[in-house]
Amino acid sequence: MKTPKHAFSTLAIHAGQPADATTGAVNFPLYLSSTYAQSGLGEHKGYTYSRVANPTRHALESCLTELEGGVAAHAFASGMAAIQAVLLRLKAGDHIVCARNVYGGTARLLEGVMSRFGLTHTYADTTDVRAIERVWQPNTRYLWVETPSNPCLEITDIKAMAALAHARGALLVADNTFMTPYGQRPLEWGADLVVHSTTKYLNGHSDGLGGAVIAVNSELGDEIGAVLKSAGGILSPFECFLVQRGIKTLAVRMEQHSANALELAQWLATHPRVKRVYYPGLASHPRRKLAQRQMRIFGGMLAIETESPRHARAMVKRLRLCTFGESLGGVETLVSHPATMSHFGLSQPRKQEAGVTDSLLRISVGLEDAADIKADLEQALR
Ligand SMILES: Cc1ncc(COP(=O)(O)O)c(C=O)c1O
Repeated sequence: MKTPKHAFSTLAIHAGQPADATTGAVNFPLYLSSTYAQSGLGEHKGYTYSRVANPTRHALESCLTELEGGVAAHAFASGMAAIQAVLLRLKAGDHIVCARNVYGGTARLLEGVMSRFGLTHTYADTTDVRAIERVWQPNTRYLWVETPSNPCLEITDIKAMAALAHARGALLVADNTFMTPYGQRPLEWGADLVVHSTTKYLNGHSDGLGGAVIAVNSELGDEIGAVLKSAGGILSPFECFLVQRGIKTLAVRMEQHSANALELAQWLATHPRVKRVYYPGLASHPRRKLAQRQMRIFGGMLAIETESPRHARAMVKRLRLCTFGESLGGVETLVSHPATMSHFGLSQPRKQEAGVTDSLLRISVGLEDAADIKADLEQALR
């Protein structure tokens, strides 16, 4: 871990983004060039071909490296492309212990694609050290965690999981999409690789897909870089520019997402038509203390168990201000139905294990005025 030179919000605006040397432009330029003039054999300015490296992508990667406190970052075309790159570091015969409450797409990739290439996996409750130990195998190479988890906001102890994985010669991979480095820095707690869907809070405006992997050391960084260069799932310069622009306001956005979510969670917890609220900032959350220890904020995501699947269906139909749709982390409030959306591909027993019921709704609390979000949810719930 490197000690950051500046506070987070300063790094978000300046890290990797010097004013343009030619014009003084304060925004790092968008380099739309697939290739670069070379002055002779092996003589170039560090850029040869944009799949290998692109200045705009490099600026974003440098910023992400500093924000997560890592040594190297690589930007991918989507969160799933980033996750796939981390899996492609492994080889046939390797095994992964994966959090049971992981994003549905990660499970789909493990089950439907990577299994065909000889990678095996076992799901486990990453809030329980003994559950992990029980499923550990001699060929386990990754412990894969997502905290807070999607969609039921379970909190995993990153430090404890890193110790467990390292003691057995494996790496800890943390999906930090829900928290962003503003909310939590997994490398600080011992994780080896952090993955992101930048589509979500890092971009923050629901106008582009992207992903990133940040590595704790240069060896891992080089290995992920080799996958990016070889398989080619790069983030385009334009998308890099948008993510970089989003990151500049990440700190203030995350604070407000979190404040709005806490207010809504507390109100929903007293609502007669809501059976249960999942939010790490509620006193009723079983791991609130751990959340306070490893997270700076409680975040903008919450989930509610409505009265019945019929009630959930009726509620989303009645939303007026909030949007019913996939994704999360944008400025607008998004309500989703994990059972038929993000976690649709999960088998019934896996859904049950992950707490994904037909009456569960996930809310990505946006930056609208909290009173307006509340009023819309209230009329929809009633
Ligand atoms: C926690 C988490 N990780 C990864 C992904 C995949 O990201 P993308 O949709 O950018 O491929 C998502 C998408 O919803 C997610 O929620």
